[in-house]
Amino acid sequence: MNTAFAQRMSGVSGSAIRELFRLMGDPQIISFGGGNPNKATFPVQAVEEIIRDVMQQNGADLLQYGATEGYMPLRQSVLEHMVCPKGVKADVENIIITTGSMQALAMLTKTMIDPGDAILVESPTFLGALQCFHSYQANCIPVEMDDDGVIIADLEAKIQQYHPKMFYCIPTFQNPTGKTLSPERRKQVAQLAAKYNIIVAEDDPYCELRYEGEAVPPIKSFDETGNVVMLCSFSKILSPGLRVGAAIGQEEIIRKITMLKQSGDTHTSNLSQAIADQFLRRGMLKPHLERICPLYKEQMDTMLGAIKEHFPAGCTFTKPQGGLFVWGNLPAMNCSMLDFAKRCAQEAKVAFVPGQHFYADPNTMGLTTLRLNFSACTPEQIQVGVERLAQLVKQVI
Ligand SMILES: Cc1ncc(COP(=O)(O)O)c(C=O)c1O
Repeated sequence: MNTAFAQRMSGVSGSAIRELFRLMGDPQIISFGGGNPNKATFPVQAVEEIIRDVMQQNGADLLQYGATEGYMPLRQSVLEHMVCPKGVKADVENIIITTGSMQALAMLTKTMIDPGDAILVESPTFLGALQCFHSYQANCIPVEMDDDGVIIADLEAKIQQYHPKMFYCIPTFQNPTGKTLSPERRKQVAQLAAKYNIIVAEDDPYCELRYEGEAVPPIKSFDETGNVVMLCSFSKILSPGLRVGAAIGQEEIIRKITMLKQSGDTHTSNLSQAIADQFLRRGMLKPHLERICPLYKEQMDTMLGAIKEHFPAGCTFTKPQGGLFVWGNLPAMNCSMLDFAKRCAQEAKVAFVPGQHFYADPNTMGLTTLRLNFSACTPEQIQVGVERLAQLVKQVI
């Protein structure tokens, strides 16, 4: 059937890495391709106890419809435990609980963006965000990065050239590069947003997964004009399956997002919200992070060590201090990265995501880059997988 899809679907394609994901399903494959948190980090027993308690105390209300803005205790506890301690000034009118931070981003985009509007994105950036922006027919404009994140001079030049409505930024342990925007630049981003009156969507799901170095204040903490909307998520620090996130921003934007959410999913699951709330109120987040960060650190250090040991000269990799990803760039190759990724999966039984998918124009940008995720594998698998990958790399550069 020749289905007449809406115009907005023309820029949305999920096919490019679908085949790779199919290969990743092979149980023999060592997969650096996903981005999921490690299942072993999920506090199953603690959540089981919380569910029993909240159902006993408040079961009927939790099974009823809830408020679109979110479960009030959770709005308060997210502010108290995850937002205000980072230097952000916000009240309950400034927060809406969403079904993952992805929904917050989609609703913010829908609130702000008309077809053809420019959105500045880090280059590279999160694939899911690019798909979201394309579905609202935005014009995604890449901004250059270096080791300290987005380059401020390029950001300002692109603002002047393209008059964007929004700049989308993943400031800490960015997906896909693992890079962190320096504190000085965070302040400058907030200042530019105020100067040119653009919205900054600060998507920061990895900030608590820090294994080295000092915590960095969010861009939102430098925001004096209400131009920054901060997106939080429980996906990487508790569970992605609960689907709980939040947007924190000026009241007017939060009200608009609330109107959209009403006709979207009405509200985020009450039970999921109550679980996240109790997790924070019982003081479980800190000890949980203290338990899981060393596990991820061991995986990350193993991957960085194996890269150093096995990869040939000329290949460069980021050295993140947290998060779930390492980003590589190879010298000129004698085949495409897409073909190379398939060959790795088939011959070496190692999977990764070719970096070009994280660029605004995947046909011309990032052609020699790759993203490696370390959270799904044991340190032993990481050793073996990186060595196998490096052996094949030697054949194509
Ligand atoms: C940068 C970034 N933003 C948002 C998300 C989605 O988060 P959530 O599960 O809260 O929707 C991800 C997930 O991988 C991500 O990497």
